[in-house]
Amino acid sequence: MKLNLKIWRQKGPSTPGNLVDYDIADVTPDMSFLEMLDVLNVGLVEKGETPIEFDHDCREGICGSCSLMINGNAHGPETGTATCQLHMRRFKENDTIVIEPWRAKAFPVLRDLMTDRTAFDRIIAAGGFISVNTGNAAEANSILVGKNIAESAMDAAACIGCGACVAACKNSSAMLFVSAKVSHLAQLPQGHPERSQRVRGMVTQMDHEGFGSCSNTGACEAACPKEITLENITRLNREMLRASLIS
Ligand code: SF4
Ligand code: FES
Repeated sequence: MKLNLKIWRQKGPSTPGNLVDYDIADVTPDMSFLEMLDVLNVGLVEKGETPIEFDHDCREGICGSCSLMINGNAHGPETGTATCQLHMRRFKENDTIVIEPWRAKAFPVLRDLMTDRTAFDRIIAAGGFISVNTGNAAEANSILVGKNIAESAMDAAACIGCGACVAACKNSSAMLFVSAKVSHLAQLPQGHPERSQRVRGMVTQMDHEGFGSCSNTGACEAACPKEITLENITRLNREMLRASLIS
């Protein structure tokens, strides 16, 4: 399969970037999207050109490192799929594919397709953990958690922190990400003691990092590779209200 790629190239955070055309041949349908970029990079290196920088690590939808805007869609055209899980069978002979980095003020471009997403790390550091000293691990069956609550918490825990929700939102809101982390911990007994300070800390940090307000369009939910639902944003708002009433 032959393809025309239009890829964002940018030398550094303060250098202007632009889309550069690359023609690639011998792409097979069973290649992953990242493997296709690997093949392109091998060709660039062989020609003495600078390879294209892009983030990746696990390549199996777990780590949240991969982050490409593909033809205007965060993580590409497949729903519930991270960039690394997207395969070239989704494209046709002679397709033109536009590949860009996440676009958000809080995620500045470092180089080419790689952005700085440490804003998410600072939000987690502001409360996305459990630090109460509970002694030795209790026997699991002695902490009763209802099935519905356990499933809802584990669904929220599936968030891989990729930032596609931010990239898809016209306001670059991080509400879906923060709501997933708050929902995961606030619903479980181990997360209860710190739930108020957690939600206050994470929301304050989110605002401080420059993410926008929720646009209420649901673009985040549609782009999320882990299908985190908007219900979590409702829960985040409830947690915030609760924290403000008891302080
Ligand atoms: S909510 Fe979804 S899109 Fe947003 S960071 Fe988590 S996994 Fe990625
Ligand atoms: S590379 Fe880890 S989720 Fe895609």
